[in-house]
Amino acid sequence: MKSFIAQLPKAELHLHIEGTFEPSLMFEIANRNNISIPFNSVEEIEKAYKFDCLQDFLDIYYQGAGVLIHEQDFYDLTYSYLEKCAAQNVRHTEIMFDPQTHTERGVSFDTVINGIVRACEDAKEKLGVSSLLIMSYLRHLSEEAAFETLKHSLPHKEKITAIGLDSSEKGNPPSKFKNVFEASVKEGYIPLAHAGEEGDADYVWEAIDILGIKRIDHGNNSLQDDKLVEEIVKRDLALTVCPLSNTALQVVKDLKEHPLKIMMDKGLNVTINSDDPAYFGGQVNKNYEEIHEALDLTKEDLYKLAKNSFKYSLLDEETKQKYIDELESFYKENK
Ligand code: HPA
Ligand code: ZN
Repeated sequence: MKSFIAQLPKAELHLHIEGTFEPSLMFEIANRNNISIPFNSVEEIEKAYKFDCLQDFLDIYYQGAGVLIHEQDFYDLTYSYLEKCAAQNVRHTEIMFDPQTHTERGVSFDTVINGIVRACEDAKEKLGVSSLLIMSYLRHLSEEAAFETLKHSLPHKEKITAIGLDSSEKGNPPSKFKNVFEASVKEGYIPLAHAGEEGDADYVWEAIDILGIKRIDHGNNSLQDDKLVEEIVKRDLALTVCPLSNTALQVVKDLKEHPLKIMMDKGLNVTINSDDPAYFGGQVNKNYEEIHEALDLTKEDLYKLAKNSFKYSLLDEETKQKYIDELESFYKENK
């Protein structure tokens, strides 16, 4: 099954570019920028990656992102992730980036986006991996700060497809960002958000009703509320599920208890993603492999998950169909 998963054409729809920062690249960039990090080796960094909850992880994640200064740093980070996509048959990816993680430290919005976009363009040409960008607002900051980010983004509007909402969920409900989401949608951005990772089902209700999101990042706690599940199915909103993230952040105790199969059985459309692969122990294919093993998924389940990844992407219908055709012909020959 490992080789079936490896060859399966797929898309990744829930990925934070800052969360792809592998310790070896972190050392390299820290050295060239003369920034000291509180670790002496890759092993020491890896040992520090033990988390009790989302906030525990975020503290380390923002610290790691602090070594990214120049456009080339953002280029190298992004290109390195896209090479991993190519190696895993990820044909398309929708990359989240957190501008405020960098603008708060004095790095300009332009530096961040120019490095990321250049890497995406090169990867499309050299590796055949397509990508779209999701600009994510940090929910622990104010709505006013998100408005400032929206303003910075406007000269780059054509390069950004969607907006997201991430960072510390509890205590920062979607409704806090109602106005900035409305303004962002007016500018042509598609609204997405993390909801129901640590927050309860009422946060997912807010995200779909108040922010009008078109896809739910994580969404695990939707299962607390049958009416909500019904509504998500009715509105045909996909959940971007991240199995290894869920166990790393103790959203789920053990992969064997992961609700993915229950979600599928309830008619929810789910996809498999890595979230922050450098921190959570595996790239997207590892997520497919481990969840397959834990829940005894069939080849058909894996095929459905990969199909959803294209179907619920933000690509135009024609491009989606091209990728789905490729997946279907692979599946026909390998089922
Ligand atoms: N949840 C919320 N915010 C994040 C995450 C996550 O899993 N990863 C990076 N920022
Ligand atoms: Zn995430």
